[in-house]
Amino acid sequence: MSLAIPPLPGSSRINTSGRLEVAGCDVVELASEYGTPLFIYDEQEIRDRCRAYREAFASRTDDFEIIYASKAFSCTAMSQLIAQEGLSLDVASGGELYTALRAWFPPENIFLHGNANTEDELFRAVRSEVGHIVVDSLDELRTLDRIAGREGRRQPVLLRITPGIEAHTHDFVQTGKLDSKFGSCLEEGVAVSVVEAALESANLELTGFHVHIGSQIFSLEPYRKTISVMADFLAQCHSRFGFECRLLDLGGGLGVAYAPGDEPASPDQLAGVMVTGLQEEMERVALPVPRLAVEPGRSIVANACLTAYTVQTVKEIPGVRTYVAVDGGMSDNLRPMLYGAAYTALLAAKPEAEPTATAAIAGKHCESGDILVREAPLPDPRPGDVLVTPATGAYGYSMSSNYNGQLRPAVLFVKEGTARVVIRREDYEDLVHLHERLE
Ligand code: LLP
Repeated sequence: MSLAIPPLPGSSRINTSGRLEVAGCDVVELASEYGTPLFIYDEQEIRDRCRAYREAFASRTDDFEIIYASKAFSCTAMSQLIAQEGLSLDVASGGELYTALRAWFPPENIFLHGNANTEDELFRAVRSEVGHIVVDSLDELRTLDRIAGREGRRQPVLLRITPGIEAHTHDFVQTGKLDSKFGSCLEEGVAVSVVEAALESANLELTGFHVHIGSQIFSLEPYRKTISVMADFLAQCHSRFGFECRLLDLGGGLGVAYAPGDEPASPDQLAGVMVTGLQEEMERVALPVPRLAVEPGRSIVANACLTAYTVQTVKEIPGVRTYVAVDGGMSDNLRPMLYGAAYTALLAAKPEAEPTATAAIAGKHCESGDILVREAPLPDPRPGDVLVTPATGAYGYSMSSNYNGQLRPAVLFVKEGTARVVIRREDYEDLVHLHERLE
């Protein structure tokens, strides 16, 4: 029997033991073999989502590039998978760059982002010959020009523009509006003067522009508006400097389903809006259509993963609430606390049993706000049960911490009935290995 709960990976089934299975692996067995908390990614689902993006754009244009935003989930195995699927990679720090290079990710397909890159990060990117550096400010442009000159490299760059567009999403993940720490704004010639400086710089090659309006976006309208704003800007740069934009990166942000009833747009719909929008807008301003890039993170990985926990205690406060406390929490999923994000929960041993009560799923951290799910209908949860929260593949592990001395979980890729550890669970020695050694 297959499961009708939307946020689970497509391969999720109820097996003959009546338990939850993902990609042919029994989740209760995975939990007992690898321990909990445990991130379980359906590898084929990640690949299918990469392919869905590629096909969506390929069916409309042959000049495009899909860049996976590795901040959503990054590790060596993930970088390798992305290379195998023919996608490029967005890295947002020296650490993400290092991870990609350790997986032999082709540097020419890497885009380095960041609003406060250090000289060391820029140097490492230039030295490893990354395909593009997305320059966030005039200060960064000057530093990068100097570093590239020292390294004897003409570094291709995109300039990040803040298009002044409000996406309908949580304020913390809005990035394209005027009052933003990212990019150069269009007001009062700020962006134009960065373009001028880029064109004058001896060691940088300006290829085009980047915009990213936000994350977990459901309405595609803001993308269409962004394209229109950018077309005007490209026209301005063309008439002012004769500059022809060769690459326009429209960022990521496509929303995903976290709970039943969430209905995000598909990569195909996004591709439709972007490709058609860009063609129409470039026709309007009478300039050639640049290569189109898109930078999805969340929509590649969020729904390909679930987290398995073990229930530790069940506490009923008569007339108030039942708390089901698990062995993880805000250290492996900060999103409920940070954004009020809503998740669902189910018991892996009886995913479709009738709920007996509604419980709050509490984490194990010393904070009352450490609640993973506010209201989860569950069938008689007991200590020892394996509890699963679906759709945890994006910004879960990547925002994880050691708060309260909690060990970071293991991460599995599961495929065709077998599991492999792509990130091992931390042990207590990992917690102190950077500390002063006391004899
Ligand atoms: N490109 C840039 C420049 C970005 O800053 C981001 C995300 C992406 C692409 C990918 O966006 P996505 O397709 O994943 O929406 N921690 C927050 C999300 C922060 C997003 C940061 N930037 C969360 O958990 O909701």
